[in-house]
Amino acid sequence: MKEPEHYILAIDQGTSITRAMLFDHSGRKVIESEKTFPQYYPHNGWVEQDANEIWNSVQSVIASALIDAGVHPEFIDGIGISSQRETTVIWDKTTGQPIYHAIGWLSKQTAGIAKQMVSDGYENVIHEKTGLVIDSYFSATKVRWLLDNVPGAQERAEKGELLMGTIDSWLTWKLSDGQLHITDYTNASQTMMFNINDLQWDDDILKMLNIPKQLLPEVHSCSEVYGTTKNYQFYGAEVPIAGLVGDQQAALIGQMAFKPGEVKNTYGDGAFIVMNTGDKPQFSNNKMLTTIAYDLGGKMTYALEGSVFVAGTALNWLHESMKIIDNVPQSRQVAMASTDDDEVYVVPAFNGLGAPYWDQDARGAVFGLSRGTNRSDFVKATLQSIAYQTRDIIDTMRQDTGMPVVEVLADGGASRNRYLMQFQADILNVPIVRSSDEETTALGAAFCAGLATGYWKDLDDIQKIHADGQTFEPDMTEDRRKKLYNGWQVAVEATRAFKT
Ligand code: G3P
Repeated sequence: MKEPEHYILAIDQGTSITRAMLFDHSGRKVIESEKTFPQYYPHNGWVEQDANEIWNSVQSVIASALIDAGVHPEFIDGIGISSQRETTVIWDKTTGQPIYHAIGWLSKQTAGIAKQMVSDGYENVIHEKTGLVIDSYFSATKVRWLLDNVPGAQERAEKGELLMGTIDSWLTWKLSDGQLHITDYTNASQTMMFNINDLQWDDDILKMLNIPKQLLPEVHSCSEVYGTTKNYQFYGAEVPIAGLVGDQQAALIGQMAFKPGEVKNTYGDGAFIVMNTGDKPQFSNNKMLTTIAYDLGGKMTYALEGSVFVAGTALNWLHESMKIIDNVPQSRQVAMASTDDDEVYVVPAFNGLGAPYWDQDARGAVFGLSRGTNRSDFVKATLQSIAYQTRDIIDTMRQDTGMPVVEVLADGGASRNRYLMQFQADILNVPIVRSSDEETTALGAAFCAGLATGYWKDLDDIQKIHADGQTFEPDMTEDRRKKLYNGWQVAVEATRAFKT
């Protein structure tokens, strides 16, 4: 009788959706299941999630994937987890109950703490140690907020009664039934508490923010067997938990962008542009983040990253709040009906602007309306805003590194929109190579787990996996490109000038 196939299970826990996928040796996705979970907006600009609801969504997608594929848990050789980064949970070590909602990466409730750090003069030291710019985006200010705002939390943290984690830590702790309190270099490097030079939690930063070190998880590589699932958390099987990686770094791995200078853009809720910069951190003069790309097989690799906070979210906004499209995919067809040359610009700064502006207080704006502006123009302008923001970042990366960007590897939900991909190629004047399916993030997590467990031998083995892509070539005159992009830059400056 033929031996049943073995698989790697990837859990991709994203900002608004949780997915589980099984991959086989050829990197083929055998099954996928997904589930959304609620977001909470208790005040203007605040974004919270319930960590228990996130965990329930993970349990539910694992169960559906295994049942639908008819795969017994013992045929899972390893589990890899890619997750939304920065989102912060603190929970009780004994009861396992979170002390408050998870504070989302987009949340602005800690903007005051970030501003205070800037006015205390910490910008340079934070950049040198962590590679980041001070912003409420990162976990450090969220930890401080939780310790300040949940009664008794600081004292309990000092007594060692609480644990903190980004979502990877929380899920690993749950899957291992409280045996593992860990994170990996990629997730740690996005917390603003981790020193990317000596690869340790930074004592000076912890002191600056009065964060007790015992709260923090142990930091590991993104590909090793950390431990196993505990029986009743994984349907009777002890499966190695063997890959942890921030979702944006996971996409870089899934795209196999292993060479310095290679760039990927994941068009998800936000758009995250990551450039592999090789084995030494490169510090930006222009507010790009220096972060850890991956640590595979003992080889630490660094990256420059630029984050667009609102990308796919702007399309959901057109559908759910503005109600001018019936569904998100329809945005392409509606945008293509626009014939307007008097360009409209939408600057979707719903939660401030990310790289390279890092303006926490900016809010969205629309420019260039005329009596003739219609729905198509508005939808087109919203799609274009994603491409313009991407260009802001890629131009800055080119300046910082002096590396030419010869192509951009694209993935993520909004990359399915062909209008967006073509406009992106046009406005950048660089070919866009879109992956054949949007699951590169999960595939990256699967690679991490599969390399650790011997499911795949090494990076060469992985690179034999063939991935088809579709290339969008630039097709716009230089004059038009200049005119359009110039208009965008004026629109962004005007948006930033408007503060209520
Ligand atoms: O930094 C936040 C990022 O990791 C979230 O990614 O795909 O869940 O929007 P995504």
